[in-house]
Amino acid sequence: MKHMISMRDVSQNEILELISLAGKIENKTVKADLTGKIAALLFYEPSTRTMFSFAAAMKRLGGDTLTMRDISTTSIKKGETFADTLQTIAQYSDLIVLRSPIEGAARYASETVDIPVVNAGDGANQHPTQALLDLYSIVKTQKKLDDLTIAVVGDLRFGRTVHSLVQAMSDFSPRFYFASPSHLKMPQYILDDLRKENIEFDEVKEIDKIVSKLDIMYVTRIQKERFADPEDYEKIKDSYIIDKNLLSNVKSNFKIMHPLPRVNEISTEVDSTPYAYYFQQAKNGVYMRQAIITTLIGARSRKR
Ligand code: CP
Repeated sequence: MKHMISMRDVSQNEILELISLAGKIENKTVKADLTGKIAALLFYEPSTRTMFSFAAAMKRLGGDTLTMRDISTTSIKKGETFADTLQTIAQYSDLIVLRSPIEGAARYASETVDIPVVNAGDGANQHPTQALLDLYSIVKTQKKLDDLTIAVVGDLRFGRTVHSLVQAMSDFSPRFYFASPSHLKMPQYILDDLRKENIEFDEVKEIDKIVSKLDIMYVTRIQKERFADPEDYEKIKDSYIIDKNLLSNVKSNFKIMHPLPRVNEISTEVDSTPYAYYFQQAKNGVYMRQAIITTLIGARSRKR
């Protein structure tokens, strides 16, 4: 694995190896040492979890980070191109973690520089490290990845995390329910891939009728920043609100996941139920990102 750009590039074996390594890093049976290594965190879009968890992961590995989160403080403001910015940053670092509003930006970066590139979200396309931490979270809560029933709820059109998640889970015989407002449905190319792989899925409007069948409900916010017309966002922003009433008849292993940030789509009263897993999910991001960084640029030794 040279880069981490799309879940389509990551094999089932690689997924399982990353989950195993994240577990060993969490339970401290593997110690990776990235002393002297530097990750450049280039964020052309806002972030809390991805930015901070990559920084935490790098520091916990003994490495360091260079951070760009405001392009107005860089020479991009003077007209420097994206390619020249990447080539320059690559002279100072061992790994580039890139978030961009432009689909394909991370792929382009990986073809431009000769150090590993991690896609930390490219427009509405992919967010592969989120999908990997999601799978790690699913293994931790369900003790398996195979044969799970998963509802994916919210903005399935612009939500890059769900595109990566569905592709990542496709190797593990899932049964999906997709619940979204009618013009925020899962993109056709993803549905076509699922059909080719004989993966069962249903597109539904209501979630109350299916919630009792679920192992996981993966909720996403409506991606306001991807709407051309703010009025369109206002009309559908509260299409799904998960509250305690919805959870009266769920399975004992049932968990609610969310990549966060949350806006209104999960009522805060749900946070104290045994089903809420989104903040632990965010914490799992540090272990998984340690595993990804180590796999791309690190060496590791087994602790005696
Ligand atoms: N899940 C996620 O990508 O969150 P941030 O946008 O805060 O990084």
